Amino acid sequence: MGTTQKLNLFPDWYENWLFSSLDVNADDICQEKYLKPLIALNNNWLQEKYEQDDYGWDDLDVATSYALYYMTANIPKLWFTFNHSSDLGHLSKLQNIVEFGCGPGTFLWAYLFYLYQCKPDALKEVKNIRGVDHSETNIAIAKKLFSELQKHPEFSHIKADFVVSLWEDDIKALPYLEDDPTLAIFGNSLIESSANIDLILDVDFSHLLILEPGTNKHFQRLRSVRDKLVEKNYNIHFPCTTSHKCPIDKNNWCHFNVNRFLLPFMQKMSTAAGRKNHKHHFSAFLFSQEKIDNSTKTWRLLSSTRKAKGSAIRYLCNGSIVREVVLNKKVKSDSNRAFIKAETGSIAFIDSTLEKNRLYSKDSFRSK
Ligand SMILES: C[S@@+](CC[C@H](N)C(=O)[O-])C[C@H]1O[C@@H](n2cnc3c(N)ncnc32)[C@H](O)[C@@H]1O
Repeated sequence: MGTTQKLNLFPDWYENWLFSSLDVNADDICQEKYLKPLIALNNNWLQEKYEQDDYGWDDLDVATSYALYYMTANIPKLWFTFNHSSDLGHLSKLQNIVEFGCGPGTFLWAYLFYLYQCKPDALKEVKNIRGVDHSETNIAIAKKLFSELQKHPEFSHIKADFVVSLWEDDIKALPYLEDDPTLAIFGNSLIESSANIDLILDVDFSHLLILEPGTNKHFQRLRSVRDKLVEKNYNIHFPCTTSHKCPIDKNNWCHFNVNRFLLPFMQKMSTAAGRKNHKHHFSAFLFSQEKIDNSTKTWRLLSSTRKAKGSAIRYLCNGSIVREVVLNKKVKSDSNRAFIKAETGSIAFIDSTLEKNRLYSKDSFRSK
């Protein structure tokens, strides 16, 4: 499943902001001290070929490497998720954004850049951002990035707290989570945490975004939390188009990918590190307690087009059923072309229940 998206909302000054906050020169980014942790962190997450003792790490180098590479690679995941979410009118009400396990503040910046480029009026409404991480080094980097960001007038009205804490402690003490509309984000932090993921079920979030690496193992943990949140009457804006028990087969997983080479310096670092694949896979869920209008029946395109023996095949999910849909590629019709070309992750409007797992040329197909 998955495809590459091209949505690039990095501000023109992103690279300057990042490098100057990290005190790094463009010529330094391919140094061994930044490339080595980049590979080791990946092996750690995938739990392959990783022996912690082999790495005599300097905390600041690891955190700097993460902020340069993984933060930049992760930021578009939020854009992809929001770009393909249903009913986002209520975003303009969100005044507080909290990221638990924020590292350098990845998804706080991703969200603020999304508003900056796509919803400038909603950006004016943001009052507070909060980053929580148990690593002092990461929090120091997040603070530096924030103070540099505030030099841009569009962000100067925002107040920030960056806190060294375990998220499982901080979550209990947050007063505004339940009072004002707040977006709470867990980005690649639940997998790292030894804390019980189910702790998030005890809090009433108005909006909750969870993003994790796009592997089967991580998805299965996420699926369980997702189903429990649905039982608590949360609605899902992405990826599920209705909020039922997840219908994905037990051996499969719902994931998408973004292009990590959107900026030239990322390509340079990737090449130097021998990471040639531009695809960065992830799973994500955006929940809220807002009512979602599900009156129009829609499907989510979960996979890119697979071509086989004159057929085009894609997985589609409507929140309660997953279908592996086949169409006859030889029939040249507008809806056939639209089905083949639609971006993975987008929403599809189809006037068929797809019961026979086939899209016929008489069926209409449109994606958004
Ligand atoms: C993979 S990084 C993710 C950083 C950022 N959210 C992102 O997606 O780019 C995971 C972060 O979670 C932090 N972390 C792990 N367990 C934590 C916990 N229980 N409480 C607070 N922070 C935690 C780590 O220090 C690290 O900065």
